[in-house]
Amino acid sequence: MHKHICVMPGDGIGPEIMGEALKVLKAVADKFGHTFTTENALIGGSAIDATGGPLPEATVTACRKADAVLLGAVGGPRWDTLDPSIRPEKGLLGIRKALSLFANLRPATLFPELAGACLLRPDIVGRGLDLIVVRELTGGIYFGKPAGTGVRDGKRAGWNTMVYDEEEIARIARVAFEAARKRRKKVCSVDKANVLDVSRVWREVVMEVGRDYPDVELTHLYVDNAAMQLVRDPSQFDVIVTGNLFGDILSDEASVITGSIGMLPSASLGAGNPGLFEPIHGSAPDIAGQNLANPLATILSVAMMLRHAFSLDAEANAIEKAVHTTLRQGFRTGDIMEEGKTRLGTVEMGARVVENL
Ligand code: IPM
Ligand code: MG
Repeated sequence: MHKHICVMPGDGIGPEIMGEALKVLKAVADKFGHTFTTENALIGGSAIDATGGPLPEATVTACRKADAVLLGAVGGPRWDTLDPSIRPEKGLLGIRKALSLFANLRPATLFPELAGACLLRPDIVGRGLDLIVVRELTGGIYFGKPAGTGVRDGKRAGWNTMVYDEEEIARIARVAFEAARKRRKKVCSVDKANVLDVSRVWREVVMEVGRDYPDVELTHLYVDNAAMQLVRDPSQFDVIVTGNLFGDILSDEASVITGSIGMLPSASLGAGNPGLFEPIHGSAPDIAGQNLANPLATILSVAMMLRHAFSLDAEANAIEKAVHTTLRQGFRTGDIMEEGKTRLGTVEMGARVVENL
């Protein structure tokens, strides 16, 4: 198989972790006889430095013509004081919108090898922690109009709008139900329907879509309760479907309780456009350039890309297996280091995974 991948290393630790992920991609290509060509594109702070904006037109073009997009991370204190319209994060939001990547899949799973790092009591995680947050990514309060800042009644004010129409809700709900069918057949839709009008429409539409999936159990939770249930008993969740803002918050919570946020990949998918694959964690500017970052989430994002964008299941499984083997052999980066294990740098960790492939 030949595929063309647009690679956006981004800022902070982005270039380092991407370097290792690409080595793993190359190793998989050799092992299974595929050709993956890559093309680099700028996004975030590095794009601001080079072009004055966080999402150059050339990047959007490069992404559109690729078969898939790999992203490292964006942002850093150097760009925090810029005008909000050109902050690095705008690059990320912009590319999601430009490619209509409306479905963000964020799995939160416990790595058995890292059980000691899990933030929950053993009797709680003993019941299981294997869920996926399906977050709507191109609508809701992130993009709703009106949005802005100004003066109201003589006082400084800011405002945003949370809005969803039935099409936006139905298409993300379908992604969630389809995902559930390949898992434990449970969808929990999270909203704030006791307060928000937008949530009442959300719930109504999710229930309508649910009628097409009688084999999938559908439940609903208010977002505050969902946040609580996630730490109280995560085993009750299989697929969580929710809007952009709630999904942003709950996916951080879900991933951190596994104790290995540096380990978790994510996929952003749209209709007819290349998907974008990236680690869940950020650009960690404090450890950038020191060979300290954990490349495993980006390496696992490559696996997600192979599975979701190219339907290469065996190849994806091979990468995941190599990561598990590396952990079982006792190799750790600083973020997941435990007593008695062997501490490795970013490059050495990447090399171990390649070896285990
Ligand atoms: C995420 C991040 C982004 C978001 C930021 C960096 C714009 O927090 O991908 O979860 O809020 O979507
Ligand atoms: Mg977030």
